[in-house]
Amino acid sequence: MRGSPGGPVNSILEFGQSLRGGRPIAVVAAYDVLQARAAAESQVDAILVGDSVAMVVHGHPSTVNATLEMMCMHTAAVRRGAPAMVVVADMPFMSFRTGPESAIRAAGALVQAGATAVKLEGVSGHEDVVSQLVGSGIPVMGHLGLTPQSVNLLGGHHLQGRTPETAGRIMEDARSLERLGVFACVLECVPAELAGRITAELSIPTIGIGAGAQTAGQVLVITDMLGMDGSFRPKFARRYLEGHSVVVSALNAFAQDVRGRRFPAKEEVLA
Ligand code: KIV
Repeated sequence: MRGSPGGPVNSILEFGQSLRGGRPIAVVAAYDVLQARAAAESQVDAILVGDSVAMVVHGHPSTVNATLEMMCMHTAAVRRGAPAMVVVADMPFMSFRTGPESAIRAAGALVQAGATAVKLEGVSGHEDVVSQLVGSGIPVMGHLGLTPQSVNLLGGHHLQGRTPETAGRIMEDARSLERLGVFACVLECVPAELAGRITAELSIPTIGIGAGAQTAGQVLVITDMLGMDGSFRPKFARRYLEGHSVVVSALNAFAQDVRGRRFPAKEEVLA
């Protein structure tokens, strides 16, 4: 149960304790009040309001379309649904690239919208931002490997760190994030062996997505795990429900009931 010993984490400090206790951390990327309420009733440790919201909820082709306004709105909705959970909000595209002052303003807006912590992609070139956010009392989660905000530079959403050189760079970035004081680091779409080496070396938890089984925790996007997009089935995302088929079947049942005049029934009519 939430708040009980051995239950889901209650603060970012417990991320580290979970790591030391050897209990893997379960994080879900979620975007609205009902998803957050379900997460709050579950054993999941934390909610990430990912900038994937731009793709998953708003139908954009990549996360570069997420705006600070969009992230604040979804963070606030998630916080209303999960008042006591750790909520991590993504810093959207370019919001941390225009210098520490504007980055702190953006992170402040996310925290005021309800985030416990912020997540930002990469580290090279914005080390000062990470250290000033942490120094300002805002917990920061790192994100390495496939960093979708750089999709145009990376040429697509592909596995990263396949060569010794790129793997070495990701390892070096992970060390750098740890030194700068991040409390955890997402590793997205990297070889399992590399994720395992980074996890073994860092004293902060790694949270994997498409990064194999050796990370300290795992994160999945809620709509992927619920199978809400019938046409999107990444290899790394286990489906716990065939949500799209369930919803289409329910809609068909409704349409047939309307056409057959079986809906509404007597007990569904307001007197
Ligand atoms: O935006 C997102 O959902 C994420 C996860 C995939 C880690 O960053």
